[in-house]
Amino acid sequence: MRFSSLVSALAITAGVASAAQHSGRSLQHVGKKDKPLPKQIRQEPQGQKQTRRDTSQYLTNSTSKYSVNGTGIPEVDFDIGESYAGLMPISKDANETRELYFWFFPSENTEASDEILIWLNGGPGCSSLEGLLQENGPFIWQYGTYKPVPNPYTWVNLTNVVWVEQPVGTGFSQGVPSATSETDVAAQFLGFWENFMDTFDLKGRKVFITGESYAGYYVPYIADAMLNKNDTEYFGVEATMIYDPSTSYDVIQEQIPAVEFVDYWGGLFPFNDSFAAQLHNMSATCGYDDYLSKYLTFPPPGPLPVELPGTDETGATTDECDVFDAIYNEIFYLNPCWDIYQVATTCPQLWDVLGFPGSLSYTPQGADVYFNRTDVQKAINAPLIEWNECTNTDVFVNNTDNSLPSGLSVLPGVIERSKRTIIGHGALDMVLIANGTLLMIQNMTWNGVQGFTSKPEDPFYVPYHDEGYSPDMAYNDPALSVVAASGIFGTTHTERGLTWVSVDLSGHMIPQYAPTASYRHLEFLLGRIDSLSSTVPFTTDNFPQPNGTFLGNGTGPPEKRMRH
Ligand SMILES: *[C@@H]1O[C@H](CO)[C@@H](O)[C@H](O)[C@H]1NC(C)=O
Ligand SMILES: *[C@@H]1O[C@H](CO)[C@@H](O)[C@H](O)[C@H]1NC(C)=O
Ligand SMILES: *[C@@H]1O[C@H](CO)[C@@H](O)[C@H](O)[C@H]1NC(C)=O
Ligand SMILES: *[C@@H]1O[C@H](CO)[C@@H](O)[C@H](O)[C@H]1NC(C)=O
Ligand SMILES: *[C@@H]1O[C@H](CO)[C@@H](O)[C@H](O)[C@H]1NC(C)=O
Ligand SMILES: *[C@@H]1O[C@H](CO)[C@@H](O)[C@H](O)[C@H]1NC(C)=O
Ligand SMILES: *[C@@H]1O[C@H](CO)[C@@H](O)[C@H](O)[C@H]1NC(C)=O
Ligand SMILES: *[C@@H]1O[C@H](CO)[C@@H](O)[C@H](O)[C@H]1NC(C)=O
Ligand SMILES: *[C@@H]1O[C@H](CO)[C@@H](O)[C@H](O)[C@H]1NC(C)=O
Ligand SMILES: *[C@@H]1O[C@H](CO)[C@@H](O)[C@H](O)[C@H]1NC(C)=O
Ligand SMILES: *[C@@H]1O[C@H](CO)[C@@H](O)[C@H](O)[C@H]1NC(C)=O
Ligand SMILES: *[C@@H]1O[C@H](CO)[C@@H](O)[C@H](O)[C@H]1NC(C)=O
Repeated sequence: MRFSSLVSALAITAGVASAAQHSGRSLQHVGKKDKPLPKQIRQEPQGQKQTRRDTSQYLTNSTSKYSVNGTGIPEVDFDIGESYAGLMPISKDANETRELYFWFFPSENTEASDEILIWLNGGPGCSSLEGLLQENGPFIWQYGTYKPVPNPYTWVNLTNVVWVEQPVGTGFSQGVPSATSETDVAAQFLGFWENFMDTFDLKGRKVFITGESYAGYYVPYIADAMLNKNDTEYFGVEATMIYDPSTSYDVIQEQIPAVEFVDYWGGLFPFNDSFAAQLHNMSATCGYDDYLSKYLTFPPPGPLPVELPGTDETGATTDECDVFDAIYNEIFYLNPCWDIYQVATTCPQLWDVLGFPGSLSYTPQGADVYFNRTDVQKAINAPLIEWNECTNTDVFVNNTDNSLPSGLSVLPGVIERSKRTIIGHGALDMVLIANGTLLMIQNMTWNGVQGFTSKPEDPFYVPYHDEGYSPDMAYNDPALSVVAASGIFGTTHTERGLTWVSVDLSGHMIPQYAPTASYRHLEFLLGRIDSLSSTVPFTTDNFPQPNGTFLGNGTGPPEKRMRH
């Protein structure tokens, strides 16, 4: 589970008995090598800008206990490079026993020398090692695949990245959860961070904070706490990026846009006529349709009301207006392998080496959860304890995070005080819906103005790149398992320091489903390219791009792209 427990629907996620997994593209099909690449770009890259550096650039007396043997990772038959992992206390207090687990990969990119980037998964209570192993790490073992392979789109190609399991209670972290709010979460993180920066001698670096899902709370709150310190030695926050982030009320990000989403992806929700009519009736009578036509507009007409449609006096969605759960409860009859994180997923149900392939946990007999293996734990300086992708214990006391969603609290101030803020959203994600995230943006006032003043419609361009495969390569080349998209691949828009980008054909975990797209986002976040519509090649290759091409509009939400 990447996002959970505060959301009614996600309680269902854990409990629904119907099989609920997702499949992915067929490797066999990819291996047919029949993908027609644009002829003019079918050329070799013209050279790398990167130069190799010392392979133990961070090895010192204080870091050596964290050093990871890059050729000693179980099941990984290649060198993952220099890295450091282990437990780090959350304060300088000598008696502090609470610790967070991290895995730090220095970059060989010469432009990274004054940077450090943090990646956080969500939950709350889900491990950032999910991101490392299945999204943006240097080696990846994604659901349904046979074994780990090198990730050509790892963020480590661009900058120094640390994946952190937090808050206390998550993954390998140590200690009893005591957080009741995001302020507590941020305080834990900042204590950890001072120790981390000291240990690896990173003081004065530009800090980038990124994450997805429930990290839509973590990232802005941690950035806010750092910025409040006015201390660029340790907390020089430069920019943040949140993917498919939880940033507003569930009513806004799940209920209101749900039926329109189902209609948009009609072929993936082939409901019978009576059920479809019932949904449309609910969406209309509960006021969702009117809400969208009134408030999902650019510029917005004014502040969104405090009162949320379809709710009772406690602010909870009423049963009659719970379109989200109605859809959820129905779709599994039609698509037993439906995945709320990527709604185009159909059967068969794949396995996942982290035990969480989709809407449900599933580990086939004979399979192990990778980070739950003792040999893996020893190789990465982890405590020898049971590891779950998403913890079984609450990381907030009484499972309650008392903080307001970031879009209604700290996010505007973070945008105002940092160089760039990116909000990305996968078009096929339903656990949080892109149009709902746009509704949140339209109710947010930053740098003096409310919302985006014009509708997002600029093209998001992903550079063409060396696909890594060619007609004469071996059938078992690992590059065959990491092919990724190029071309216009969504919609982007920037106003007053905030950039929106929707990503086509991507589910909830953007670096997993759309690795080249997320690689491009990171280039922009780091300030290495000037816009997400830029058509310059990736900064790490010189691959020729088609020229003289009319880019047209973006292709992702909110643009209507139904072509009849
Ligand atoms: C590192 O440790 C070694 C062996 O304990 C010691 O000789 C050396 O002085 C230490 N270096 C620093 C910079 O502390
Ligand atoms: C790293 O692991 C490999 C494989 O187990 C082993 O051969 C090698 O000696 C190890 N290197 C170090 C420095 O421990
Ligand atoms: C650590 O704990 C010991 C024993 O309880 C106590 O005497 C000491 O003052 C504590 N130190 C700090 C820094 O809190
Ligand atoms: C940080 O700077 C701001 C603006 O200069 C100031 O209002 C605030 O009190 C400072 N905070 C700290 C912790 O020094
Ligand atoms: C998002 O909202 C736009 C209206 O702004 C609508 O045209 C589009 O169909 C919606 N997309 C989805 C996926 O619901
Ligand atoms: C249509 O779906 C609804 C909801 O599951 C069900 O109650 C109804 O029987 C279905 N109608 C037909 C004809 O299958
Ligand atoms: C919109 O923003 C206003 C002002 O911050 C706030 O009072 C209101 O609750 C928000 N409404 C929603 C639906 O987020
Ligand atoms: C982790 O390993 C332990 C010991 O083998 C086992 O009891 C437990 O079920 C495993 N947990 C997961 C999530 O696989
Ligand atoms: C958690 O729940 C218990 C039992 O309901 C209650 O006594 C306690 O005050 C709660 N703690 C917090 C921090 O809300
Ligand atoms: C990332 O770095 C590796 C090793 O240098 C290289 O093979 C790969 O092409 C790079 N990826 C990109 C997208 O430039
Ligand atoms: C257009 O692309 C071709 C082939 O990649 C290249 O030779 C040419 O220099 C490009 N022209 C411009 C103006 O970029
Ligand atoms: C791009 O969007 C604008 C505004 O929505 C529209 O007027 C224009 O026709 C679109 N361009 C194309 C090529 O579809």
